[in-house]
Amino acid sequence: MRIPQEKITEIAVSNDIVDVISGYIEVKKRGKSFLALCPFHPDKNPSLHISQQKQVYHCFSCKAGGNVFSFLENYEHITFIDAVKKLAERAGIKLEYDSSKPDISSEISRMYEINKEAAVYFRNNIRDLKSSEKEFVNSYLKSRGLDKKTIDRFGIGYSYKSWDGLLHHFQEEDVFSAANIESSGLIIKKEGSGNSYYDRFRGRLMFPIFNENDKIVGFGGRKLYDDDTGGKYINSPESKIYNKSRILYGLNFAKEKIRYSDFVILVEGYMDLIALSRNGFENVVASSGTALTEDQARLLSRYTKNVYLLFDSDAAGIKAAKRGIEILLETGFDISIISLPFGEDPDSYLKSKGKNEFEKRISEKQSFINFIGDIYNKDNKLGTVEEKTTFIKEMIGYISKIPDRIKRALFIKEISERYRLNESIVTEELFRILKTAGRTSFPKSSVTLPEKDTVRISKEENNSNKFELELIELFVHGDSEALTYIENNLHIEYIKSRSILRIAECMLDELINNGAVDVSIILNQLDEKEKELLTKVANSEFESSPLDRSASDNLLTKNSHPVYNIKNAQDLLRKFRIRELEIKRSEYKTDPEKYLEVFNISKQINELMKEGR
Ligand code: CTP
Ligand code: MN
Repeated sequence: MRIPQEKITEIAVSNDIVDVISGYIEVKKRGKSFLALCPFHPDKNPSLHISQQKQVYHCFSCKAGGNVFSFLENYEHITFIDAVKKLAERAGIKLEYDSSKPDISSEISRMYEINKEAAVYFRNNIRDLKSSEKEFVNSYLKSRGLDKKTIDRFGIGYSYKSWDGLLHHFQEEDVFSAANIESSGLIIKKEGSGNSYYDRFRGRLMFPIFNENDKIVGFGGRKLYDDDTGGKYINSPESKIYNKSRILYGLNFAKEKIRYSDFVILVEGYMDLIALSRNGFENVVASSGTALTEDQARLLSRYTKNVYLLFDSDAAGIKAAKRGIEILLETGFDISIISLPFGEDPDSYLKSKGKNEFEKRISEKQSFINFIGDIYNKDNKLGTVEEKTTFIKEMIGYISKIPDRIKRALFIKEISERYRLNESIVTEELFRILKTAGRTSFPKSSVTLPEKDTVRISKEENNSNKFELELIELFVHGDSEALTYIENNLHIEYIKSRSILRIAECMLDELINNGAVDVSIILNQLDEKEKELLTKVANSEFESSPLDRSASDNLLTKNSHPVYNIKNAQDLLRKFRIRELEIKRSEYKTDPEKYLEVFNISKQINELMKEGR
């Protein structure tokens, strides 16, 4: 069977490497890092490092390494194709179509089937309602503008005001065990009573939550009755198929529209998204009340780089918007903010003002700079010098999150002009922030110059390529300024190791073509040895640089993720230059006629070393 590349990518992104490996062996979280006992060699201390960010693993002892597919290949001793099939099944992605009957072969597929069945049941309840319950629910639907078309599109349903409506339904069907249904979160075991269960959702309007592949992973249930003591929304608990920080409500409906329009409107609530969709705005996703997470931002970035934030216009909404701005800037999005009058949310605004007024709001969208500026302005917080300083610093804080240095420079220019500040002072402050962000954990190596006469072009991987490993680290962990510096100043002849040269070439290619380095993509272009090297370095946030490994014997206490900045890049390239000069000098030394050149080179080396101090 040939599996198309998009399918393989879809499968890869639907199987987080940390989750997958955790299904086989125990994985521990240390700060941002994940560690495990390596299953590929007898391991006493955790030496398998997993990078969730890069989606790769690497063992620092036995050098095993790769992506999620290679883990399965090696762990289960299966072929690549079989690994792809297994992970497709795990993510509920169909490779071959036999859709006639429910697939209940695995726990995951059973969970999807149970949710699907429950959604149909909830949906049918709306149709089958009787007497007063019917009147009550229908008038609610009407008041919220939920007509039949909308109900069908979003699969909206109703859970009876009863303890065992759903439970009963499943018992009649008799396909799934109560334990199965419980693991999908729809029913709850009664405390202290052997095997008795009750429905989680009672008397609520039910919104199925779909994943990107149109599978139902859970439900949000909105309160309808005054005597319901639960929160306004009750959501399915997290489960093997429902990870709240990785789901964006509505993405399955919106993804094609987002790609097509090349922007997405990000709202907070189920009802907001539905109201927008009903009014013809379909490129919308909802963060569902929680603060936007990095995973959600990453998911979204596959469809567009442009986000219009449309949050409720209250204190909580503004707070959520600010946090969202940070995460989105970090992920490289261009952000606009659509504002609504105080106290309104998109649903209420559309209801009272209609589609045209809303369109006007979209066209009046602001940059995040103006949005934050307006907040300060409205709160009268731009009067004194101190207040202005606080404001400018907050702005520079946001700007510092932007990976693209050109964009950063343009924003700096914009705020400098707008608030009549000296641009170089604002830039200086930006660099200070960037530096403190990246400075802390960069390995400070004393300029370990290679032993003079032993430096020869080395074909072997040995100590003399320490810098070269560090160069790869910089590629992987460097901020955009550092990367640009490397891109402009690295001479390829500095690199002596063939593997590293190959990796560096791929990285430069990526950098030039895509403006960023994506390790898991580069991996596909490398041979085994190069892969091993790169996965090792990609995981090097777990240990110190090869240059001073001794400084950190205890891997478990190290959890900071180094971000290498321009200063680090300059230091490193200086070391490369010094090494080049050293090599040349030792060649000239054997020739008495070249004493003047030797003298000059020594002078240059001294200069460079001075600069480095
Ligand atoms: N939410 C939640 N639990 C709550 C409150 C809110 O999970 N107790 C989530 C829901 O996903 C909700 C979103 O946060 O859609 C936004 O909350 P809110 O603005 O209060 O709800 P709306 O979607 O506007 O719903 P409604 O208009 O029915 O009040
Ligand atoms: Mn609302």
